[in-house]
Amino acid sequence: MIGVFDSGHGGLTVLKALADQFTTQEFLYLGDHANAPYGNRPSDEVVELTRAGVELLFEKGCRLVLLGCNTATSIACRSLQQDWLPASPWMGRNILGIIAPTVEVATQTSWGVTEPQYPQMYKTDVIAVFATQRTIESGVFQEEISKRCPRIRIVGQACPQLAGMIEAGKSEAELEALVASYVDEMLAAASEAGACADGQPHYAILGCTHYPLVEHLFAKHLPKTCRLLSQPRIVADSLEHYLARHTEYATPLAVEGVRQASSTLPRVRLLTTGNLAEVEARQFMGWSDRPCFAAPTSL
Ligand code: DGL
Repeated sequence: MIGVFDSGHGGLTVLKALADQFTTQEFLYLGDHANAPYGNRPSDEVVELTRAGVELLFEKGCRLVLLGCNTATSIACRSLQQDWLPASPWMGRNILGIIAPTVEVATQTSWGVTEPQYPQMYKTDVIAVFATQRTIESGVFQEEISKRCPRIRIVGQACPQLAGMIEAGKSEAELEALVASYVDEMLAAASEAGACADGQPHYAILGCTHYPLVEHLFAKHLPKTCRLLSQPRIVADSLEHYLARHTEYATPLAVEGVRQASSTLPRVRLLTTGNLAEVEARQFMGWSDRPCFAAPTSL
């Protein structure tokens, strides 16, 4: 069973891509709705909340937990992998983030390569990154992309209110006005920095898993020549490669002991630390027909 963790609803965009691509895998999703959004929280809180979420998913039987959250990945992933996990009772399990596969696709360079590469097509490209305040401040996209492809110019745009407004179920009109304002800010910054001759980025990364829920609004307000990199699809493809190399985490349903013992469980289960009725009442992406289960609210 593979765990997917996010501060709230955003990771469902990743979970949906995973559930579509891995039809024999069992998934357990945890949304920490009680503490969402994470993007404006101090780093130490993000680390502690992420650790508690991962630990809960391990306790529930997940051997692999994917952080379906860029904020958790940029702030907590490395320290959890390198410092916490080896000293915890969960040795032999693993935690994956979602920024590495995104950087791999953006740079067309595998993660293991950290020397400058100069793919011809990226000689003059500019990439806009839309993400939470904490993710942008971490500088992770800038750092990881620049060290592989120094000629790529990154224009980072923090969207401090967007995940919270998506979580709060704000109207399409309110979300559109906010997205449009962030796009305008990014375009002004790109042009001021002389980032590209036409003042426009060629690619945009939606570096927060909540943002695919309003991808159509980004597409509407970004220049038509700007291509959006779709993180859920990128993450699903990357996990497929990972599981091919690490078959110990890729137990199909047919041989999953827990599954056999309780085969009435749905293949994809959702846990929330938030208010069950409120979370279930939200109509996100057709997942609303799935019952949510309460997780401890003490994260
Ligand atoms: N969906 C998360 C991300 O990818 C977190 C957003 C938030 O909680 O602020 O960054």
